[in-house]
Amino acid sequence: MSDNGLVDTPAGEDDGQVGLTGRPLRELPEPVELHRHGPARIISMVNQKGGVGKTTTTINLGACLAEQGRKVLLVDLDPQGALSAGLDVRVSEDDITVYDLMLDNQTSVHSAIRNTNVPGLDVVPANIDLSAAEIQLVNEVGREQTLGRALRPVRRDYDYIIIDCQPSLGLLTVNALACSHGVIIPMECEFFSLRGLALLTDTVEKVRDRINFDLEVIGILVTMYDRRTTHAREVMSRVVEVFGKTVFDTVITRTVRFPETSVAGEPITTWAPTSQGAQQYRNVALEVIERTS
Ligand SMILES: Nc1ncnc2c1ncn2[C@@H]1O[C@H](COP(=O)(O)OP(=O)(O)O)[C@@H](O)[C@H]1O
Ligand SMILES: [Mg+2]
Repeated sequence: MSDNGLVDTPAGEDDGQVGLTGRPLRELPEPVELHRHGPARIISMVNQKGGVGKTTTTINLGACLAEQGRKVLLVDLDPQGALSAGLDVRVSEDDITVYDLMLDNQTSVHSAIRNTNVPGLDVVPANIDLSAAEIQLVNEVGREQTLGRALRPVRRDYDYIIIDCQPSLGLLTVNALACSHGVIIPMECEFFSLRGLALLTDTVEKVRDRINFDLEVIGILVTMYDRRTTHAREVMSRVVEVFGKTVFDTVITRTVRFPETSVAGEPITTWAPTSQGAQQYRNVALEVIERTS
C-alpha cells in the first residue's frame, strides 16, 4: 500500500487488501488547500479512562492537521497539564491558563494562547489550578457553557479547536462537550476498555439531548494496538462489530516512540517524521478532515 494508504495488514493475513479493522483498505482523499481560516470545528477528545491515548492523540492529530495547512488550537482541560508539557509549553505561576479563562470573565483567551514549535499549532495550557474549577463552577449560572464562552472570541481564527479532556465525565468534560461539534474517543485496544464505552456514549447522548443538539461522535480511534497478540485482534473485531463505521479505518499501533515523544516535548511528526506512528496520525488527520467537512 502506498504511503497515503492505511496501516498494513497483520502478519499472516491475506494479501494486503484488508486493514487492521478488518475492513478493506482505501485511499484517503487529499484535503483541499485552504486559502482562509475558520470558523473552527471544535472537537473534544474524551474517554473517562486514563492512559488510553487522549493526550497523545490531541497532540499528534493537532500537529498533523497543522501539516495540512490547518490552523489548530489545542486546549488543555486536564489539571495534570500533560498536553502543555507534551508540547514543551511550560506554565509558570504568572501564566494565564484555561482555569483563569473559566473562572474570570475579564481574562481574554488571547492572553492565554501560546505558540508551540510546530507552525500553525497553538495551545491554551493548564496546570493544577484547574482541579479546583469543577467545585468553583458548581453554583455559576450557565456553568456548562463556561468554556464555550471563553473560546468564542477565537473561533474565527482557527480551523480546528481540539480539547484534551481529563479522565472523568464531570463538569469540565461536560463543558467541553457542550461547546463541541464532535467527539473523538480514543480507546486502548484491550478488553476492559469496551466496558466504559457504553457509559461514555450515554453521556454524549445526554449532552446532545439537553444542551448541544448538534453534538456528534466523529469517531472511535483504536490505540495501542499490538499486532502480535490475538487478544488485540479479538478486541478489534468486537469494537467494529459493535460500533461499525464509527471506528476510524486508521488504527494506532503500540510503540515506544510515543512515550519518547512525551519526554522530548514534541509531536511524533517532528520527533520521528518517517515512523509508522507519524504516518498513522497523518492518516487519522485525513480521516478527521473527511469526516468533518
Ligand atoms: N500508540 C501508543 N503506543 C505506546 N504508548 C502509547 C501510545 N499512545 C500513547 N502512549 C503512551 O501511553 C501513556 C498514556 O497516553 P496518554 O495519551 O497520556 O493517555 P490519556 O491522555 O488518555 O491519559 C503515555 O505515556 C503515552 O506516551
Ligand atoms: Mg491525558
